[in-house]
Amino acid sequence: MAKKTINDFAQMVAKGEKIVYLTAYDYLTAKMQEKAGVDMILVGDSLGMVSLGYDTTFPVTMDDMVRHCQAVRRGAPNTFIVGDMPYMSYQSSDEQAVANAGRMVKEAGVDAIKLEGAGPMIASRINAIQQAGILVMGHIGLTPQFMGQIGGYKAQGRSCSSALKLVKQAKIVEEAGAFSILVEGVPPVVGKAITERAGIPVLGIGGGSYTHGQLLIYADMVGFYDNFTPKFVKKYANVGEIMVNAFKQYADEVRQGQFPVDAEHSYKMPEESVKEFLA
Ligand code: KIV
Ligand code: NA
Repeated sequence: MAKKTINDFAQMVAKGEKIVYLTAYDYLTAKMQEKAGVDMILVGDSLGMVSLGYDTTFPVTMDDMVRHCQAVRRGAPNTFIVGDMPYMSYQSSDEQAVANAGRMVKEAGVDAIKLEGAGPMIASRINAIQQAGILVMGHIGLTPQFMGQIGGYKAQGRSCSSALKLVKQAKIVEEAGAFSILVEGVPPVVGKAITERAGIPVLGIGGGSYTHGQLLIYADMVGFYDNFTPKFVKKYANVGEIMVNAFKQYADEVRQGQFPVDAEHSYKMPEESVKEFLA
């Protein structure tokens, strides 16, 4: 299937077809997601926790992101890929933001970038990157790069004033030139209000069922990442358990001399050569 474009996403929204969005961080996972027909892949800076073992997204660098976006691109050549801008890759200036967004496109071939926030400074970054010809996805609500200010990994928009603020922020992001907006960790009624008012596709993660599409961190939904599972995650598989069991069984068989079985898992040498070799 051909890679989707913003026109396809607009058509999907118009027809009421949901956009299927998942994170990926490596070649193999991306390949499986493309095979499964996922519409959009996010190489999130959740990479820090899921693949690199950090406690937060803060230590993730541009080099980390570019490397993993490249791997995902190789695995999913025909899928729309969004590269996440890591902490301090866009906060300092519009120039810095454009240069780093440009690296994602030039070095990794992503189709769009994503950045967090909706203040005046972020609006300026979105506008500058967009003017460089790069598609920008906004991200509001539970925004981990603002963890200190929003009080941790907590749902947002649970009071009327907080909900109204999010609705305003979505407009700011849209007016700054974002092609789409991701809303994370908000009650369904807030996801609905934002979606109804938006002129661009609204994607949700933990934002209820009304958004134009849904995102999950793939490692959460297949039961791979088990340090912490947010309320909004549905587990579709238990891959972690399957892998641990495979590792255990392998360990047992190696220790008991049951693996390998030479006739089945070893290379053959013609009998004559064996004789000659052992003579
Ligand atoms: O980094 C990421 O995976 C994200 C999603 C959780 C929204 O930004
Ligand atoms: Na992120």
